[in-house]
Amino acid sequence: MEPATHPSSVTTASWSRSTEEQRYYTVNRAEWAWFSRYYDAVTRPMRRFRGEVVAAVAAPPDSRILDVATGTGEQALAFAPGASEVIGLDMSEAMLAIARRKARPPNVDFVLGDAAQLPFPAGRFDVTCISFALHEMPPSIRDRVIREMARVTRHGGTLAVVDYALPSGRIARSILPRLIGLYERPFYASFVRSALGPLLEGVGVAVRTEQRAFWGNARIVIGDKLV
Ligand SMILES: C[S@@+](CC[C@H](N)C(=O)[O-])C[C@H]1O[C@@H](n2cnc3c(N)ncnc32)[C@H](O)[C@@H]1O
Repeated sequence: MEPATHPSSVTTASWSRSTEEQRYYTVNRAEWAWFSRYYDAVTRPMRRFRGEVVAAVAAPPDSRILDVATGTGEQALAFAPGASEVIGLDMSEAMLAIARRKARPPNVDFVLGDAAQLPFPAGRFDVTCISFALHEMPPSIRDRVIREMARVTRHGGTLAVVDYALPSGRIARSILPRLIGLYERPFYASFVRSALGPLLEGVGVAVRTEQRAFWGNARIVIGDKLV
């Protein structure tokens, strides 16, 4: 099955969207339409971190990898060496336009689509990854996205979630989430306090490792899709 690349794949839902969900889709498209041009400059300090994610995932050679909500494609491109295929999927045409302008090896492709209804058959990928996108989603969409990622990951494959975490120190814990909450979307506050283990276990993925980065403010959670 070919990935969907038509805008209707992100504007038409296979379920009846709640008001909160409709608002999230509208806000997401509008925000990234204007912020896309600044995104790579703002996230420049994260470049080295992309390699840490690749190392944590430890994909076997020739893996087929899906980077969900890929944005400007930095994590997808970091996965390319050693992979047989990397697809970066995003619902923002503006973010994808920047990803597509970058030099990319022939095993990388970028497609337009909604992470909550992935346009791929079950078990299509050895690895699925999502970085710094779940915290922007209402919980109902978060659940759908994780369920979809688990569906398109093959049995025995790997699912990786990279996103904000609560730092462990008492002072950092009380100050940093408040600062980050000033510029992040309202869903960040509940996301950062949530454990990802139960969410993953609910879709048949067992957490293998969880490591911290950025002084405890980010987590890389690696799970195995149960056979
Ligand atoms: C903060 S950026 C992260 C981009 C990239 N993963 C990274 O690590 O730099 C969030 C991205 O998630 C995308 N996104 C949010 N909800 C999505 C959805 N339901 N389907 C596909 N992409 C989505 C946005 O369009 C945006 O490009």
